[in-house]
Amino acid sequence: MSTANLDNAGTFTLGTRTVTRLGYGAMQLAGPHVFGPPKDRAAAVAVLRDAVANGVDHIDTSDFYGPYVVNEIIREALHPYPDNLVIVTKVGARRGDDASWLPAFSREALTQAVHDNLRHLGLDAMDVVNLRSMIDPFGPAEGSLEEPLTVLADLQRQGLIKHIGLSNVTAKQVEDGRKIAPIVCVQNHYNVVHRADDALIDRLARERTAYVPFFPLGGFTPLQSATLSDVAARLGKTPMQVALAWLLQRSRNILLIPGTSSLAHLRENLAAAEIALPAEALKALDAMADARAA
Ligand SMILES: NC(=O)c1ccc[n+]([C@@H]2O[C@H](COP(=O)([O-])OP(=O)(O)OC[C@H]3O[C@@H](n4cnc5c(N)ncnc54)[C@H](OP(=O)(O)O)[C@@H]3O)[C@@H](O)[C@H]2O)c1
Repeated sequence: MSTANLDNAGTFTLGTRTVTRLGYGAMQLAGPHVFGPPKDRAAAVAVLRDAVANGVDHIDTSDFYGPYVVNEIIREALHPYPDNLVIVTKVGARRGDDASWLPAFSREALTQAVHDNLRHLGLDAMDVVNLRSMIDPFGPAEGSLEEPLTVLADLQRQGLIKHIGLSNVTAKQVEDGRKIAPIVCVQNHYNVVHRADDALIDRLARERTAYVPFFPLGGFTPLQSATLSDVAARLGKTPMQVALAWLLQRSRNILLIPGTSSLAHLRENLAAAEIALPAEALKALDAMADARAA
């Protein structure tokens, strides 16, 4: 049964495909700390199937979620994939035995990662592969991405990757990256209270490039704010729905990939497509970000 009309969210171009602006991020389907299997694999499968049944046609993943676990669950839940489904992965990191996140930028590691993603997902070519910068794992940091991006461009020429994106990067890295390969999307940390990428989003919008915020709901520490709760209560919605609706209204080139392991949360999140935030709600939410920046 349909929970929300995702058409209200609109669509945007991702590479050569058009996707609905409300998608799904699969990271939460792994075990604790994104490591090992989930407690309830059947529930994870059900979340993915429900997302697609309700109109989600853009799923974000990586082989380093689990590792391998999340891609295998996606394959179990959805393969053979519907023609309209765009699966986006990311490479550039690997997991230590202690669940740590380590850089994996060598030619061998990147090539292996693309092949691993294809094998675990059951695909011949990836729609989009994001190069995840690990120069600083916790936020964009300047430094050259020329070598790893050249490897992905080679894999693109071989037909294993259709489109390339960048993640955890600066505006300069996007500009420099475009000299090596077309960059179809940027995936960085951004949400209603964390707005460091405002200028980059506006620039990418002018260039008709997708911006895909990770941690749209705050990530490992989900958003909590009295303002968000007040706005939500006045609209009869939940704070998470307001946070997603704000992102949808922020810019046309923003594609959402909220993550959840819960069917109820998935449906709640998809219903955010139907919310139009009034001017006074936008003003209150902007004041919240201004207060944090001050
Ligand atoms: N490129 C990168 O470096 C990078 C980094 C991180 C993530 N990502 C991608 O971005 C996607 C989104 O990020 P994320 O999943 O880390 O963070 P998120 O979407 O900001 O938030 C997920 C957290 O919010 C909770 N949640 C979701 N919906 C909720 C609701 N309606 N009410 C209350 N709590 C709710 C989830 O718990 P429940 O499971 O209990 O719902 C989970 O704890 C990931 O899935 C992944 O694909 C990329």
